[in-house]
Amino acid sequence: MRQHLEDVSKMSFGPSAVLGDRIESSKYRRIPPVQFSRPPGAETKILFLRRLLVSFFMLCGMLLLSDLPLRAADYRCPPTEPDIKGPFYKPDAPLRSSVGKGYVLTGTVKSAADCATIPKAAIEFWLANPDGDYDDQHRATVISDRSGKYRFETEPPPNYGFRPPHIHLRITAQGFKTLVTQHYLDNGTAQARFDIVLIPGN
Ligand SMILES: [Fe+2]
Repeated sequence: MRQHLEDVSKMSFGPSAVLGDRIESSKYRRIPPVQFSRPPGAETKILFLRRLLVSFFMLCGMLLLSDLPLRAADYRCPPTEPDIKGPFYKPDAPLRSSVGKGYVLTGTVKSAADCATIPKAAIEFWLANPDGDYDDQHRATVISDRSGKYRFETEPPPNYGFRPPHIHLRITAQGFKTLVTQHYLDNGTAQARFDIVLIPGN
């Protein structure tokens, strides 16, 4: 009887009694960390991709920096703002400085880099006639003179739909970017000065 009671006192009734040595052993045994093995060459590929990514972002930064000199604030003369061409542009407008009477537009073509005047710049004009229609009679090309100056005379264009009176211009000059812009008329004026400043480039 005594021997039986000693045997019972040594018995365990907890989880370890149910799972036996599996829990007891895992409680005290150090479980080694899981090791993910990479295939041969994987480290080299990861390093290569990382360097490629860094190079890509560096290149993007350099491109952004290289674009900075093209901003208006970096030019001695602020470039003329471009404007929409619209659907009525036709190339090869005839050489003539007048398509009517009543409104005179003059100005000088200059370089944005140093404000130097640009001779022989081709300035194409097109505008709506007094009826509000675009026609061939209101198209012209004027070449700037040796001082970069130009003069263009026309009938003042009317309001065009919801748009205020305006004259379209397209300017090309060797060594400069082509500019498409518009001149807006002030009500009641018969003349205006409109200097054109081009950005160097092709
Ligand atoms: Fe227009």
